[in-house]
Amino acid sequence: MKCKITNKSIDPFMSFGKMPIANGFIKEENFSKEFFYNMEVGFNEDISLFQLNDHPKPEMMFNQNYPFFTGSSEYMKNHFNKYYEFIKKYLKTKSKIIEIGSNDGTFLKNFLKDGNEILGFEPSKNVADFAKKNKIPTVNNFFNKSTVKNFKEFLGKTDLICASNVICHVPNLKDLIESIDLLLSSDGTFVFEEPYLGSMFEKVAYDQIYDEHIYIFSASSVSKIFKMFNFELVDVLPQTTHGGSMRYIIKRENKPISPKVKTILSYESENKLDSLDSCIKFKKNCEISKENILNKINFLKKAGKSICGYAATSKSTTILNYCKIDKSCIDFICDTTIEKIGKFSPGMHIPIKDMNYFHNNMTDCIYLFAWNHKEEILNKEKQFKGEWFSHVSL
Ligand code: TMP
Repeated sequence: MKCKITNKSIDPFMSFGKMPIANGFIKEENFSKEFFYNMEVGFNEDISLFQLNDHPKPEMMFNQNYPFFTGSSEYMKNHFNKYYEFIKKYLKTKSKIIEIGSNDGTFLKNFLKDGNEILGFEPSKNVADFAKKNKIPTVNNFFNKSTVKNFKEFLGKTDLICASNVICHVPNLKDLIESIDLLLSSDGTFVFEEPYLGSMFEKVAYDQIYDEHIYIFSASSVSKIFKMFNFELVDVLPQTTHGGSMRYIIKRENKPISPKVKTILSYESENKLDSLDSCIKFKKNCEISKENILNKINFLKKAGKSICGYAATSKSTTILNYCKIDKSCIDFICDTTIEKIGKFSPGMHIPIKDMNYFHNNMTDCIYLFAWNHKEEILNKEKQFKGEWFSHVSL
């Protein structure tokens, strides 16, 4: 496989096998037309970048019906309110602010006051339309050099560009960083947050890997990649979202750098997060994790226990397809998202049911797929007295 940034040939170090689109919840009549690709991962040691090999075109994922609205999660709404409070220090009065992957406008809405000029780029039509209805200026398109050039009033004048859980979706990072370069003012700031490689390795949370996550970043990779374009990593802030994320603050070169950057780079070097060694260890841990979860499910089934899944997450697609867990093991997966209910999980075709069905058909055990929302979920499902389990420790 070729590195997406440097074009260097790299050998994949692991294959998760045949994988469908993670968010490709499917109707029964479309089973025979389902799209699969071979999900392999590799690591470019030159820039310490963990990346997917073959991946479906973004148009296949971020289409008319992207089934995720940021505003549907109280936890995420709260997160974005706190994120806004943090980010204010990078603003002046009447700032120009752009969000890449602005979804339903939940985050950008915070900036609507104080005379700020805001603009969101959101390729999925359904969520972009929702944002526009709520008066959030939104471009229903991908963020790239040709689309940003249309917004002359932002070129070289943007004070803040932000992105949450979106940079890892972008195949052409070179074009993305060059677009940021076109937009940012000389003292402008680019802030983005993404699932963190260190957390994924530590938790053996290999379900972070799916078609939409082309890269899993670390401070080492971010620092090396942005240096190639005369930008610098000036600060980092660990986040609890998505099972362990990192917020990266980027500025043009020769700006003050927080001591936290040196600390995290040393941590990553000591733990070999900047080299292939940690990937080889991770691969072994994934194989052990697969064996453990299959043993657990077999044990429960032999004991006559019924199991359902809680939350039809994109992450669950990786687990179910890598471990080959189907409806002979898991009766159904419950979820709150209207777009998913009544369909089947990608690849393994487990039925997706609404929460009423779940409450009326309680199983003995529940596989928690949204393990990163454990507190919120266990709190609202206190009446369930059976066993919760997952492939990561709960
Ligand atoms: P994601 O991890 O791919 O973003 O998907 C999260 C899914 O979890 C989404 O379909 C909504 C679902 N969910 C529930 O059904 N109930 C919940 O309490 C939470 C937090 C999420």
